[in-house]
Amino acid sequence: MVTRRRVLGAALATTGASLFTAAALTPLLQARNAQAGTRAANAPHFAVPLPQPPVLAPVSTSGGKDTYALTLRRVRKEILPGVSTEVLTYNGHFPGPTIRARSGRSVVVRHRNALDTPASVHLHGASVPPGDDGAPMDTFAPGATRTYTYPNRQPHAPLWYHDHAHHHESEHVYRGLSGSYLLTDDTERALPLPAGAYDIPIALRDARFDEAGRLVYEMDDALGRTTLLANGRPYPYLEVAARKYRFRLLNSSNLRFFRLRLADGSTFTQIGSDGGLLPAPATTDELWLSPAERADIVVDFSRYPVGTRLVLENTLGPGSPDQVGQVLRFDVVRTAADPSRVPSVLRTLPPLPAASVERSFEMRMSDESGAPGAQGLINGKVFDHDRIDTHIRHGAGEIWTVTNPGTLVPHNFHLHLVQFRVLERNGQAPDTSESGLKDTVRLLPGETVRLHATFDTYRGTYVYHCHLLDHSAMGMMAQMRIS
Ligand code: C2O
Ligand code: CU
Ligand code: CU
Repeated sequence: MVTRRRVLGAALATTGASLFTAAALTPLLQARNAQAGTRAANAPHFAVPLPQPPVLAPVSTSGGKDTYALTLRRVRKEILPGVSTEVLTYNGHFPGPTIRARSGRSVVVRHRNALDTPASVHLHGASVPPGDDGAPMDTFAPGATRTYTYPNRQPHAPLWYHDHAHHHESEHVYRGLSGSYLLTDDTERALPLPAGAYDIPIALRDARFDEAGRLVYEMDDALGRTTLLANGRPYPYLEVAARKYRFRLLNSSNLRFFRLRLADGSTFTQIGSDGGLLPAPATTDELWLSPAERADIVVDFSRYPVGTRLVLENTLGPGSPDQVGQVLRFDVVRTAADPSRVPSVLRTLPPLPAASVERSFEMRMSDESGAPGAQGLINGKVFDHDRIDTHIRHGAGEIWTVTNPGTLVPHNFHLHLVQFRVLERNGQAPDTSESGLKDTVRLLPGETVRLHATFDTYRGTYVYHCHLLDHSAMGMMAQMRIS
């Protein structure tokens, strides 16, 4: 019998040929999806505009810092057209409001938990003291208030905030607890990139709805979640002018990997990744994005006549092409002046100090066949918040070799606190999409990456984990202490 994980693994293991060309898999997926209910398959394509989460206004800008207030609450939102769905939100928005911050200026976020479940808020990709990191066990109870301070002593980066309450993080994030936090600096602002209305954050994810339009959460349900959402709506369209746009893509899915392309096969320019701008722009015709990864891209619509409709496609399962093959559609509706430009040099990366320590990490499921009760393991162990797995000397540069020894299940690897560099992927230099600063790196079955991280900022205990959040909830997480 072919299990769910086997199908998922086969879909992802074929990095050369997409799921959609692996014809043998399609009937299996359709059978499984028929059981899962048909609501997801019925979400109409290009029926709703792409929403943009509001930019959050500070409640105070005094004292040299910007203070924001967010309330975690359960609300009903229209996600599928004409259907109301209960979601978990920051301030009633799905996804949460966007926070815009500047390097060198602190941000304070005061959260009030109006949910019936404990919460912890983590700023993904940020360098913050341990008490403000939103650690898995450092939760605040229903009714409680919790304040996080973000020093923003790091270069520009497209960060995001999301829930991290241990054993709840995957369901909380799935039900809506995530939002963008765009940190900028003078380096980034000096560049003539598309800006203002032409700079658009887009969070991509999947979801599963039942017949009544409720969000269905089942642990490790990679095959059931076959409705794609962009900024919280299914398969939206975006009206654009025939000029350059900057899109800040975030994969906020729990389990889904995207491989994105433009339907006409034309190229676009990647200018940034998790930790901000790449050293130089990279022209590409496809883009991989595993859960929590970000890609900053520029698409030039000036090559299209007004009236063109261009679909952003995804060529990776699970799910059939009509479910997950189309993500959103760009509708070129007018011309516009375009003073923006993508310079040939974007930034200088910090130097790579010599590494004094080498370590290895193995990301593995206790059982890849999809048996119930499977656990997620790092170096053979499930997460234990009373155990420090890795002791790091403050200031050290380290090389970490991370392997997915499995044959079916994809993982990725996320380190709190630091932005690292990818030295190698499967023994080769990484391609340009991984040439910048990263905090999350994909690991398909059989893959190995070598990373370089420097631990010269805060001291304390932080986690590292697989960012397929269902896997981290299953234990694929560990702790490092920098001292
Ligand atoms: Cu998005 Cu522990 O992180
Ligand atoms: Cu993180
Ligand atoms: Cu994993």
